[in-house]
Amino acid sequence: MLKKLSFDKPIFVLAPLAGFTDLPFRSVVKKFGADLTVSEMLSSNALVHGSKKTFHMLQKAPIEDPYSVQIAGADADIIKQAIEILNEQKGIDIIDLNCGCPVPKVVSHGSGSSLLLDLKLMGNIIKTIKETSNKSMMSVKIRLGFEKKIYLDIAKVVEDNGADFLAVHGRTRAGKFKAEVDYDAIREIKEAVSIPVIANGDIDSYDKAKWVLEHTGADGVMIGRGAVGAPWIFYQLKTGSNDIDNNIKHDIIMEHFDKMIEFYGSIGASMFRKHTHTYSKGYSGASSLRNEVNHISDVDQYRSTIDDFFKNSKIV
Ligand SMILES: Cc1cc2nc3c(=O)[nH]c(=O)nc-3n(C[C@H](O)[C@H](O)[C@H](O)COP(=O)(O)O)c2cc1C
Repeated sequence: MLKKLSFDKPIFVLAPLAGFTDLPFRSVVKKFGADLTVSEMLSSNALVHGSKKTFHMLQKAPIEDPYSVQIAGADADIIKQAIEILNEQKGIDIIDLNCGCPVPKVVSHGSGSSLLLDLKLMGNIIKTIKETSNKSMMSVKIRLGFEKKIYLDIAKVVEDNGADFLAVHGRTRAGKFKAEVDYDAIREIKEAVSIPVIANGDIDSYDKAKWVLEHTGADGVMIGRGAVGAPWIFYQLKTGSNDIDNNIKHDIIMEHFDKMIEFYGSIGASMFRKHTHTYSKGYSGASSLRNEVNHISDVDQYRSTIDDFFKNSKIV
């Protein structure tokens, strides 16, 4: 059965991160209490053209309930066709529209944050998704503007065209991932619209999440980079506890590795290098581990190397 998100209390959401938040990572994060997980961004064009890779990326882990699929695109007709395809796919509860991606490859196609330059088109696409989708909700992920901050105009268009909630990354496209996050702007958006608002940007601890929720009045927080190398952050966010036992970390890292192999096959071992790099931050011997795994492709050898490292190495 399709599930609707409840906003009775603040929710904790894993942000979509292309190249990181795939099924293996999301299923590990979900265990620690994330209320919502979102797929990596999927191109509506690729869906319509039946890209095998894109359909593989659509899959969800059984515990992802509810599950949101994020799409990108700039052509309402193509998006309509993509939604009709997603309508045939079971287990998706929410369709999210990407209106924030700053990457030139995406922006040059008029997608992602480019939609913030044409609010009429953005509104039309939101309406098309809402009217075509058979899922229980649709949401939009925005930035505060492309160059200029025009966030109240953007938020109104999102609301007026039928979105059920929105997530706000508190920077403009020009601010990329480094400019200071404008939490006051997120508060203004929250005050201006009646749909739930989720705050996003540089939230990486219990104290920060608590402060952002209080300061913005938002209905939830979305965490991206703070979860990379630390999927247990959702447990910490929910409980306020900063302690994660090293043995638990070891078990989670091994489970993540095994899920990568299950999902991608043996190539999953070399794909795990980037995760090995982030998990090993702060451990003694991290840099020699990184060098070592950069040369390992064999699954069993990779597994025993990280098993040994995370069992025996200490945080410095
Ligand atoms: C490597 C990377 C990949 C990202 N991929 C996506 C994506 O596919 N869709 C999206 O809406 N945002 C994407 N983002 C933006 C994040 O979802 C988030 O808005 C941003 O990183 C700010 O949140 P944070 O400070 O918690 O990471 C990506 C960010 C990074 C760093």
